Amino acid sequence: MIAIAIDGPAGAGKSTIARMAAKELGFIYVDTGALYRTIGVAVSRTGTDTENEKDLKALLDKINIELAFEDGVQKVILDGEDVSEAIRTPDASMMASKVSAIPMVRESLLDLQRNLATKNNVIMDGRDIGTVILPDAQVKIFLTASPEVRAKRRYDELLAKGKNVSFDEVLSDMILRDKNDSEREIAPLKPAPDSVLADTSDDNLEEAISRVVSIIKDKLGI
Ligand code: DC
Repeated sequence: MIAIAIDGPAGAGKSTIARMAAKELGFIYVDTGALYRTIGVAVSRTGTDTENEKDLKALLDKINIELAFEDGVQKVILDGEDVSEAIRTPDASMMASKVSAIPMVRESLLDLQRNLATKNNVIMDGRDIGTVILPDAQVKIFLTASPEVRAKRRYDELLAKGKNVSFDEVLSDMILRDKNDSEREIAPLKPAPDSVLADTSDDNLEEAISRVVSIIKDKLGI
């Protein structure tokens, strides 16, 4: 099986780029952020106190998270309910960032992620795919862009969905999430030593996709 790990901060374009690249290569695209978002939503809905290890463990033991793929599009199912939309709110983003710093949460998602890569050719995106989840991935890419460019992309995305947000709010959320994600003790966001760095600040979407696809083809020799 072939595994391609794409890590990087929020808004670097990982999901769009990885989805398109996966389509071109015929791989499945796995968005691991969706898993942390789903746990965030489950925590919010149940009012679980994440500081209380016993309560958190009870919640993690109780919930069932599955990924389904329909025409190559990933859906995330929480206890039988498709939560693919519900996990995309700013609140779910913040909750995801919060719960993702908890070792027990990361552990609970480890097997699910690794099993997918055992059974399929995958492009998996996240923060720790090349460093922790799939350290033997044949291709590792660290995708980044300046905070302003990333916030603008996320802002446009939210506006297009009719969400009422301000750019400054999106930018400050982005900077706060970057800080949480890269300064946490467990699996912090950082490039794997053997990753290829791709900065997409000055790229449009097409350029960013073709940059990533050519890195992949180069590395795989295809
Ligand atoms: O990629 P995203 O914005 O959907 O991720 C949501 C949060 O989950 C993000 O703040 C960091 C966390 N995350 C993580 O810690 N590890 C991953 N592999 C993917 C996401």
